[in-house]
Amino acid sequence: MIIVTGVTARVPAKLNLQLAVGPPRADGYHHLVTVFHAVALFDEVTVEVAERDTVTVTGEGASTVPHDGDNLALRAVAALRKQVRGGNRAAGVRVSIAKRIPVAAGLAGGSADAAAALVAANELWTAGLTPQRLAEVAATIGSDVAFALLGGTAVGRGRGELLTPALAPATQYHWVLAFAEGQLSTPKVYAALDRLRAAESGAPPAQHHPDLDAALMTALRSGDAARLGRALSNDLQPAALSLYPALRKTLAAGLELGALGALVAGSGPTCVFLAASAERALELAVSLSGAGVCRSVARVTGPVPGAAVVPAQG
Ligand code: C5P
Repeated sequence: MIIVTGVTARVPAKLNLQLAVGPPRADGYHHLVTVFHAVALFDEVTVEVAERDTVTVTGEGASTVPHDGDNLALRAVAALRKQVRGGNRAAGVRVSIAKRIPVAAGLAGGSADAAAALVAANELWTAGLTPQRLAEVAATIGSDVAFALLGGTAVGRGRGELLTPALAPATQYHWVLAFAEGQLSTPKVYAALDRLRAAESGAPPAQHHPDLDAALMTALRSGDAARLGRALSNDLQPAALSLYPALRKTLAAGLELGALGALVAGSGPTCVFLAASAERALELAVSLSGAGVCRSVARVTGPVPGAAVVPAQG
């Protein structure tokens, strides 16, 4: 009998093709309607049997990821452990996160790591939780964790955790991501949006009712990248720009260089550009790098599937 002592899962970053934000709820979260889209920029999370729970992080932005109980991957493992009965669950686990998704960049990297940890621990402990039950555990960890499990393109409601896969042809889109020098705190960006809206209307932001954008869904169904580029939208963008004004220059540069659409990723500060083809994405990435309007660039395709176990070698 083979005893498995470690499992690795790979998980994608997410973009929000639409992010419509409503008023804050009683629990402090905001009502959302969003269109999530998973892209081929992956973190890898390995979960191994150990004496007690620990986490190590390597790669992009590793030093800024919490290494204690605040780490979302560790919290995800602890939440799953409570759901697992019998002798399968280990006393502890060593969680090793290899990051390529930048931290606090609007790409849900922390949520992705939590989703990968859930998938890996579910396998390691032969816990057998169904995707539905894993998604329920995911939702207790963060608003974007359930989508990181699902992947593809999906409409998110509630605070983002209530998901419906989008029916769309198997079109592959070509994106360029422009990573910023700094980070943005998601709660601070939501708070800035509330302030901007209150200043505009002189009243609390109760009148904003987020709706799914029909033009965006039509664009996705048509598989027409130019149409999709025109339909991209993010209610958090003005708030992110108010906290990080230099992003205006990055967005403008990408559009000038021929991007079909541009927007801030989630709460930022990563900027996202849609290109017409792989070749145009390469040109855009090279030109954006040369323009000095970001720290670095990446070309990614989407949609891609959600968190999944990496088959063991040999
Ligand atoms: O759910 P998650 O922990 O990823 O959210 C991080 C923060 O983003 C929350 O603490 C909250 O300030 C903000 N947020 C929100 N409304 C949402 C999702 C996130 O206000 N729907």
